[in-house]
Amino acid sequence: MLHTDAWWRDAVIYQVYPRSFADSDGDGMGDLPGITGRLPHLRELGVDAVWLSPFYPSPQHDAGYDVADYRGVDRRFGELGDADKLIAEAHGLGLKVIVDLVPNHTSEEHAWFRAALAAAPGSPERERYIFRDGRGVSGAEPPNSWQSVFGGSAWERAPDGQWYLHLFDVSQPDLNWGNPEVRAEFLDILRFWLGRGVDGFRVDVAHGLVKEENLADWTQSSQILGGLDPAGPPPPMWDQEGVHEIYQSWRRVLDEYPGGRVLVAEAWVAPASRLARYVRPDEMHQAFNFPYLEAPWQPAALRAVIDESLEANNAVGATTTWVLSNHDVVRHATRLGYPVGTPRMHGIGAEDPQPDTALGLRRARAATLLMLALPGSAYLYQGEELGLPEHTTMADQFREDPAWERSGHAERGRDGCRVPLPWEADAPSYGFGPTDASWLPQPATWAEYALDRQQGVAGSTWELYHSALGLRREHRLGHGSLTWQDATEGTLAFRNGDVLVLTNFGPEPVELPAGARLRLSSEPLDGDGRVPTDVTVWASF
Ligand code: NOJ
Repeated sequence: MLHTDAWWRDAVIYQVYPRSFADSDGDGMGDLPGITGRLPHLRELGVDAVWLSPFYPSPQHDAGYDVADYRGVDRRFGELGDADKLIAEAHGLGLKVIVDLVPNHTSEEHAWFRAALAAAPGSPERERYIFRDGRGVSGAEPPNSWQSVFGGSAWERAPDGQWYLHLFDVSQPDLNWGNPEVRAEFLDILRFWLGRGVDGFRVDVAHGLVKEENLADWTQSSQILGGLDPAGPPPPMWDQEGVHEIYQSWRRVLDEYPGGRVLVAEAWVAPASRLARYVRPDEMHQAFNFPYLEAPWQPAALRAVIDESLEANNAVGATTTWVLSNHDVVRHATRLGYPVGTPRMHGIGAEDPQPDTALGLRRARAATLLMLALPGSAYLYQGEELGLPEHTTMADQFREDPAWERSGHAERGRDGCRVPLPWEADAPSYGFGPTDASWLPQPATWAEYALDRQQGVAGSTWELYHSALGLRREHRLGHGSLTWQDATEGTLAFRNGDVLVLTNFGPEPVELPAGARLRLSSEPLDGDGRVPTDVTVWASF
């Protein structure tokens, strides 16, 4: 494991979703001691760092992305001392720790928002958020036409008649980043966690903090997170020029601390050249590559997005950050089980068309092997190393994602990728915790995905990830560079250092180049030593 200050440039970073990773006390909700207890497993898997989704005090209306206090730990997850222990334990194992920072909005239960509601229009308390008078004779219409990402209007009326902006749930009022007090507060929050030893921050909705000054109407799309037309005008709530000076000021703070502390942008911004502006040398270090995540399982499309990403990031001296799954999207083992070209899904329910699970897993394993051979850094989402699919038949009564209600049940939402992990096939809650309790129901088929059914089992998905991470380190693939190779139609092939990577998307098996020695393969080769359909191989010479 590299421990230079630039550790993040080639790091494999594992996303832990605290609610669903490991439950130490049996209440059905994962917690920090649960995570700490399982850290040796992540070390063994072979990742370099963990990113923890929010664990701060929160009413949990958006699973913790509604923060009531940025300097604490929600009692459901433990206490501050548990965070300290987790960080120390991770460091002892050689793992870096990235925490989630949610600067676009607070929870409605944050002391600032309570004070804002209690104060009068025009007061300094209201100036920390985006309050406006409504339109229409009595101000009964929202101030503009913006839609919430979760559906419905992005404005809510306060009891005294003014409106406040919430790009997400009504319980997540947007902060006013034009206010110096807000800026100062977040610099202090950064210092609070840096002082406790965290190695970085994943910055939630990094492209949303600054809104166009006059809050102009925007009617082009209610699908404001992703799905934007890169050729069209920038939407007034996303990717405004003003966000960059905020990250420059954060970078200056991070650079005061030793050891290479990092900022990772969650920014749904396209094209890649626009996203690369977030990772210029004086700003953030990484930005999730969502165009890569969203690319169809198709060689030309993947090659184009890989080239575009590398080129845009190289131009600013940054590495590229690859990702296939996270807590907001349908898991890639399920996504890839639908016909190529299926539009992005916002959750799947029992009445929806169901995926081809075997095909999805086969392609997911091939996709992962392709991703882990690319130069740069890669993010893994908990459970993908087990080949976990989405829970696609969850009864609607269990859904907690606010998008389900706010969209008027048009979107099933993200609960299906957030189900607690199976660790032991024959234990209660599959070893998620000591009891049967699990905040979301686990599918009955999950015994077969449990860690203890996969460790030491040749060909299991866990063993595939384990081997891939080991070889990736041995061949320094994250530090390498990519050279495309001539390849049969329907395949992608590239060299990264001494490793040849080949993915076969086509219907017929393909030969490995003469002299190539197989190092790893997402599925066995066929009887003639050829690479079958939907398989990635790593070979050396
Ligand atoms: C992005 C987070 O990943 C998502 O889970 C959350 O709902 C929104 N930002 C709002 O914070």
